[in-house]
Amino acid sequence: MYVDQSKIEEIKNRIDIVDLVSEYVTLKKAGRNFTGLCPFHQEKTPSFSVNREKQIFYCFGCGEAGNAITFLMKIADKSFPEAIKDLADKTGVILPPVSSGREGRQKDLVKEGIIGLNARAAQQFSRNLFSPAGAIARKYLEERGIADEVVKQFRLGFAPDTWRSLTDYLAKEGCSLKLAEQAGLIIPGKEGGFYDRFRGRLIFPIENVSGDIIAFGGRILGKGEPKYLNSPESPVYIKGKNLYGLNKAKEEIRKKGFVLIVEGYFDLISLWNAGIGNVVATLGTALTREHLDLLRRYTMDVVALFDPDEAGKKALDRSLELFLSAGMKARALILPGEYDPDDYVRKFGKDKMNALIALAQPLSDYYIENVLGAGRTFEDKKVMVKNAMEFIAKISDKKEKDLFIKRISEKTGVNEELLIKEIYRDARKSGAKTDDGQQGGHGHYDPVELFLIQLMMDFPQKITQVDREKILDFFMQPELLTLGRKVIDTYKLLGFIDMSVILSDSADSTLREKMYKLMMKNMPIDDAMMEKIFADSVRQIKRKWYKEQHRQIKIKLSQAQEKGNQDLIKELLYEKEKLLTQEKEMP
Ligand code: UTP
Ligand code: MN
Repeated sequence: MYVDQSKIEEIKNRIDIVDLVSEYVTLKKAGRNFTGLCPFHQEKTPSFSVNREKQIFYCFGCGEAGNAITFLMKIADKSFPEAIKDLADKTGVILPPVSSGREGRQKDLVKEGIIGLNARAAQQFSRNLFSPAGAIARKYLEERGIADEVVKQFRLGFAPDTWRSLTDYLAKEGCSLKLAEQAGLIIPGKEGGFYDRFRGRLIFPIENVSGDIIAFGGRILGKGEPKYLNSPESPVYIKGKNLYGLNKAKEEIRKKGFVLIVEGYFDLISLWNAGIGNVVATLGTALTREHLDLLRRYTMDVVALFDPDEAGKKALDRSLELFLSAGMKARALILPGEYDPDDYVRKFGKDKMNALIALAQPLSDYYIENVLGAGRTFEDKKVMVKNAMEFIAKISDKKEKDLFIKRISEKTGVNEELLIKEIYRDARKSGAKTDDGQQGGHGHYDPVELFLIQLMMDFPQKITQVDREKILDFFMQPELLTLGRKVIDTYKLLGFIDMSVILSDSADSTLREKMYKLMMKNMPIDDAMMEKIFADSVRQIKRKWYKEQHRQIKIKLSQAQEKGNQDLIKELLYEKEKLLTQEKEMP
């Protein structure tokens, strides 16, 4: 990072998150917060809240949360320095010319440079396609039924089958060939100089969500190896973090309310060509959590369209867990016969394709029928239930989970209630997080310790007292202890607390979400009331701690007595006495 911390503070002080968010979301005042429809997931009733006093946002629907900077990063897909730069412009904060941290700036320049080069290369590829030399590629596209309009929309191009067509062009234009190498466009030759990576191929530019070209794929015309050649990963291109076509499809995804995921360039183009536009493609890599996080901004409803071959089925099986843990409503569609989406839509047309999509099976059904298998004997069923339980524990959406349990119950004939008990027992044992929607929100965190942290956030004047009286020493939950310490340390360092920063490096995402949820609730109490509640909470926390200490001493005592260890007994009794005295001194 190359921006001075004090500049960041200045920007944060000047920007108003309500104004910033209002540029993207229609907000209405609701009590002390502002609410609107969440831009990060599809919803019909507003659960996206912005708090002006704390300068944070939180979505009660999808859990997305942060401050003005992280909001801009997410909504506009910007890096941290990019977001800072934008906000500096907006607020009139002048960022000093780069002196320290040259590396960060350098990296950004490289990224900008690569994107610029890619744009030039794409133009050149496109010119080639429509030049006489591109006739064979145009013919290929025609044979595969792709309309000219679609070719233009996707900026498809052609790389002629020569060694230095693009290299020479870029050199002539005065571009940095070193940078073109970093972009993956050209490759250094053994005898010095460079040659083109893409030769004799139909070219697919790959865009990020903002429409910048970040990489290319090239298909051989006809037979040959490899069928597709792709740009290597680069500072602007990470495969697992980009979805082909998303920039073009996002509007249609919002409109239709769901997204189709396919595997290949041609599947996507061909569906688009047939008038099905809410499609993205993974480009031969396995689906990742980052992919789903990208999609969650537009919809929570996914239809995964996989090839009917073994590889496709495997990919689907692997993706199952991912969808479920991301809390997405996913359906699976495996096309009949040997058709991939491109073959199918070309042979049977858009309407048949849409009919199939409408019939796509919920993942729960797919899992039960294709993964879980059939259990005939009692032993089989026991294994099935065990596997299913492990699987269900990973589902984060409550509705999806219930639906799943119901289906498993029908399939195995095991009573639904029994299954539910089994799941929650397993979850507790493994310490896994379960959906605590019904428990009033505190989940597995100690409510009083949590409340004390909330008090510190809402009444920072209490932080010094918590520190001075070493109240955190009585905390029994390590996560909350760490969080409490961070609050105190930041306050001592800066004189104020910025919870979105404190929480930004919290490894525990459940806790993070919980804290944002709490921050959205302004405590409607005056100072006198607050003092009373504060004292009460401290007392409760200490009592609980003493109780636990006594319990532990009691266990140790009975062990010592069993062993007849007189010294240890004496020591423990002394400790017990000491604890009691301390406890009595408590107000
Ligand atoms: P497929 O082999 O299923 O190809 O690869 P396809 O999309 O049906 O292509 P056509 O219809 O024969 O033209 C699916 C995806 O896997 C990646 C590509 O992204 C492709 O679209 N892939 C495949 C490669 O990157 N390299 C390869 O050699 C093959
Ligand atoms: Mn194909």
